[in-house]
Amino acid sequence: MAKNRIIVGLSGASGIIYGIRLLEAARGLGLETDLIMTDIAAKMIEIETDMSPDEVTALATRVHDSFDFTSPLASGGFSHAGMVVVPCSMKTLAGVACGFADNLLLRAADCALKEHRPLVLVPRETPLSSIHLKNMLIVAEAGAVILPASPGFYHRPRDIQGLADHVVGKVLDVLSIEHHLYRRWREGEGGDQP
Ligand SMILES: Cc1cc2nc3c(=O)[nH]c(=O)nc-3n(C[C@H](O)[C@H](O)[C@H](O)COP(=O)(O)O)c2cc1C
Repeated sequence: MAKNRIIVGLSGASGIIYGIRLLEAARGLGLETDLIMTDIAAKMIEIETDMSPDEVTALATRVHDSFDFTSPLASGGFSHAGMVVVPCSMKTLAGVACGFADNLLLRAADCALKEHRPLVLVPRETPLSSIHLKNMLIVAEAGAVILPASPGFYHRPRDIQGLADHVVGKVLDVLSIEHHLYRRWREGEGGDQP
């Protein structure tokens, strides 16, 4: 398994900063990233940040066209330490839940599930309909981790980046990748981790 390589999927939900921070953090940690960005994710970068889509793609090791089904990522044989869809739109969640892989991001997620590789979905939507909740249950039962973009506050974040880093740190925790993105509860005191 390629322990040093993760797939990062950016879909068109609010909270694109979480995906950008993951790419930045992965780079800082020496991880390789294979990025797939949907067309609407590129729009969200323009809507929600001062960065351009090109500046975001420059953070990744490799970038894959979201409709290139000839990409190595379209095969279950592509080895990686995990895939993270962040942010994960309800449309992309529905695609994963149904196995409806009509773009490369969905196909790569489908492959992660069938190959039993870690798949982390980071939804931001609120409130959630019963359809959203059922789709989350379906993907969780299929082996994915639903990690809502709901940052904690016990580490006293000082700014938006501090909030985003808590969520990104939780994503890296799921992938068993060491990091110092947030101060853990009672770190060094032996307290339980919330
Ligand atoms: C400004 C804006 C914010 C959006 N925020 C969300 C969101 O937080 N969650 C969501 O599921 N969809 C959101 N959408 C709708 C998705 O972009 C839309 O469902 C799209 O089909 C998602 O496509 P994708 O998953 O292929 O990127 C938003 C759209 C816009 C324009």
